[in-house]
Amino acid sequence: MTRICVAGGTGQVGREVVRQAVQLGHDVSVISRHPPGPGAGGAYDGADYYRADVTTGEGLAAALAGVAVVIDCLEGRSGRALKDFAAGGARLLDAAHHAGIRKAVLLSIINCDQVPLRFYRSKADKERIYAASALETVTVRATQFHSLLVQLFAAGATVGLIPVVKGARFQTMAPGEAASALLEAAVEGPSQELHRVRTVGGPEVNGMAELAETWKHHSGSRGRLIRLPLPGAAGKYLREGGNLVPEHRYGTETFAGWLAKR
Ligand SMILES: NC(=O)c1ccc[n+]([C@@H]2O[C@H](COP(=O)([O-])OP(=O)(O)OC[C@H]3O[C@@H](n4cnc5c(N)ncnc54)[C@H](OP(=O)(O)O)[C@@H]3O)[C@@H](O)[C@H]2O)c1
Repeated sequence: MTRICVAGGTGQVGREVVRQAVQLGHDVSVISRHPPGPGAGGAYDGADYYRADVTTGEGLAAALAGVAVVIDCLEGRSGRALKDFAAGGARLLDAAHHAGIRKAVLLSIINCDQVPLRFYRSKADKERIYAASALETVTVRATQFHSLLVQLFAAGATVGLIPVVKGARFQTMAPGEAASALLEAAVEGPSQELHRVRTVGGPEVNGMAELAETWKHHSGSRGRLIRLPLPGAAGKYLREGGNLVPEHRYGTETFAGWLAKR
């Protein structure tokens, strides 16, 4: 049994890491700014929840005490959180180093270093911090999640129009399978290589229109597909398939299969 700290263990992927780690018999601590109270919904029995903030360092020492591996599932989408995202990772690694932790695993996004947008730059900045750490690190670069496409489609459907980026394809994966990859990296034996990168993708590559039709079928939405050009760096990334890694099919749960389970 290993004591594992999941930073962001109340989020979409983090809570799956916590669930799977507890199920495998590991001892788990969770870092979040808003941890669920004891017995509250969203908390897993067998995991210890700590109120801690990687942008201030508050609460980190307590959450990291006795931990062997830390798994970083943090997010910072916009504003201050986006600006502080990479520095938060550095603060977490620093606190982990002080706590005597030997290894850290980071969840990142496939080819984030190829997209000159602030959000992706913050991911690439954090990857560089992990690659320069004194700790052994594994960066797990995942393709987009099934849930991201659902969010995009559902948001558009509220006004009757389901957005489809012209020429875009996705290799989406289940957040739970990204969690499994993180946990595998966390518990594998020590490596000769101090810093490693692992790439994990979903089982299929699908056009965005095909994904939208599948989502319509499962959700019952009557929205109309609207095909839009996406200019700029993000459009180029998608059109050129920068988000695809067909040679790294890790997940087995397809978009349709994942929707059917929900
Ligand atoms: N969506 C995709 O398609 C995709 C694909 C590949 C990789 N990723 C990446 O995977 C990572 C995890 O994504 P996700 O969707 O699971 O994120 P999420 O659901 O937004 O969860 C983020 C977690 O981080 C915690 N957190 C945020 N700021 C914090 C802070 N300052 N101190 C401590 N805890 C903090 C949150 O809890 P509190 O708010 O309570 O603090 C929450 O537990 C992200 O970096 C994301 O970009 C996403």
